[in-house]
Amino acid sequence: MPTVELKLPGKDHGYEILIEPGAIDALGERLAQIAPHAKAAAILDENIESSHGRVALRALKRGGYDVTVGVMPASEKMKSLKTVQDLLAVLLDAKLERKSPVVAIGGGIIGDTAGYVAASYLRGVPFVQVPTTLLSMVDASVGGKVGVNVKQGKNLIGAFHQPVLVCIDTDVLKTLPDRELRCGLAECVKHGVIRDPDLFAWIEDNVQRILDLESDALVELVKRNVEIKAAVVTEDEKEQGVRAHLNFGHTFAHAIEASPQAQAEADEPKRRRFAPPQRFETPKPKPESHAYEGPYAHGEAVSLGMVAATSLAVSAGRCDGALLDRLVALLDRIGLPTSSDKLADTDLLMGIMQTDKKVKDGHVRLVLPDRMGAVSVVNDTPADAIAAAWDAIRA
Ligand SMILES: NC(=O)c1ccc[n+]([C@@H]2O[C@H](COP(=O)([O-])OP(=O)(O)OC[C@H]3O[C@@H](n4cnc5c(N)ncnc54)[C@H](O)[C@@H]3O)[C@@H](O)[C@H]2O)c1
Ligand SMILES: [Zn+2]
Repeated sequence: MPTVELKLPGKDHGYEILIEPGAIDALGERLAQIAPHAKAAAILDENIESSHGRVALRALKRGGYDVTVGVMPASEKMKSLKTVQDLLAVLLDAKLERKSPVVAIGGGIIGDTAGYVAASYLRGVPFVQVPTTLLSMVDASVGGKVGVNVKQGKNLIGAFHQPVLVCIDTDVLKTLPDRELRCGLAECVKHGVIRDPDLFAWIEDNVQRILDLESDALVELVKRNVEIKAAVVTEDEKEQGVRAHLNFGHTFAHAIEASPQAQAEADEPKRRRFAPPQRFETPKPKPESHAYEGPYAHGEAVSLGMVAATSLAVSAGRCDGALLDRLVALLDRIGLPTSSDKLADTDLLMGIMQTDKKVKDGHVRLVLPDRMGAVSVVNDTPADAIAAAWDAIRA
C-alpha cells in the first residue's frame, strides 16, 4: 500500500499515512500493530455512519477492538466544546483507558472535534484519522491541529495532537458531494502554488480524470498533496515559519467566510435604535457565531482568496501576470469561483482582516506568490493595495 511517512523532529517516531482504494479494510489490523488495546472509540460523521462508518467499525473489530461509538453531525455548530464534553462522557462511561485509541471517521469537522477529545481524554490518548472528504485527506487529517469553534470565532480552542496513524481510503470519495470535491481541490491547487510547480501542472493535465473520480488519479492526487502537507508540518510543526505558507488565500477567505455575521452585527444597532433603553440589564449572551454560514463554502472562499492575493502580488510587481492567468484558468476548469458579486463592502472585509488571529502587531500578514511554487509572507502591504485586491475579485 502506498504510504507517506511523516517524521517529526525531536520525536522518536513519526506516523504512517496509508493511501489506497479500500484502505479502510486494513484499518483494524494495522492499528493493532501500532496501538494495541482491548478497547477503542470511534467517532463518526452521521452522514456516513451506515456506509463507510460501518466498514470501518467492522475493520476495527477484526483488529480485536471492542469499539465504543460516538456519532455526530458534520456541522460547524456541532464542532463545539459541548460536543467534546458529550463525547468525553461517552468515553468515560465506557471506561476507555490511556492506551485506547480514538478513531475519527469523517471529514475535517469530525477529525478536529474527535482529535480534541483524544488530546484531552486522560490528558491524551492515541488518535487515528480516517478522513472521508478530499479536504480532510489532503489537509485537515495531517499535521496534528485539532480543536473546536467557540462563539468568539472558529478554531480558537484546540491543541496540537498528532495522530498515530492516518488511513486514507480514496474509494470513499465516490460518495462525496461534487461541491465538496471541488472545495478539496482548492487546497490542492494551493499546495501547487506555494510549493510544487509540477503538482500544479499535473492538476492542469488531470482535472477531468479527478472530477471523473478515476481511481489512479485520486490516489496520485492525494499522495502528492499529503507529501506536501507532511513536508511542511515536518519542517514547522507549530507554525513558526513555513507552515504559514499554507495560509495562501486564507486571510481573504476568512474575511469572506466571516462577513455575513459581521454584516449582521454591523446592522444590529440600527434595528435597536428605537428600542427603550435597557439599563442595568445583565448582558445577554451573543447569538451563536455563524461566521461560517454564507454563500461560500471554505474551499470556494479560498479560491477567491487565492485570486485576490495573486492579483495583489501582480499589481505590486512581485510576480508575473501569467501566474494569475494560469491560476484563474485552472480554478475555472475545476468549477471554483474566481470572482464574485456577493462580496460585502471592502471596508467591512478589511475590518475583519484586521481581527484575523494571524494579524501580528496590527499588520495583516499575507502570503503572496513570487512565482509558481514559491511564496513569501508579507507584513507591510498598504491598505489601498489590499482594497484594490478586493476590487479585483468583484464581478
Ligand atoms: N485541523 C486542520 O489542520 C484543518 C485544516 C483544514 C480544515 N480544517 C477544518 O476542517 C473542517 C472542514 O472539513 P471538511 O471540508 O472535510 O468538511 P466536513 O467534515 O463538514 O464534511 C463536508 C460534508 O461532507 C460530508 N461527507 C464527509 N465524507 C463524506 C463521504 N465520503 N461521502 C459523502 N459525504 C461525506 C459530511 O457529512 C459533510 O456534510 C472545518 O471545520 C475546518 O476548520 C482543519
Ligand atoms: Zn483551507
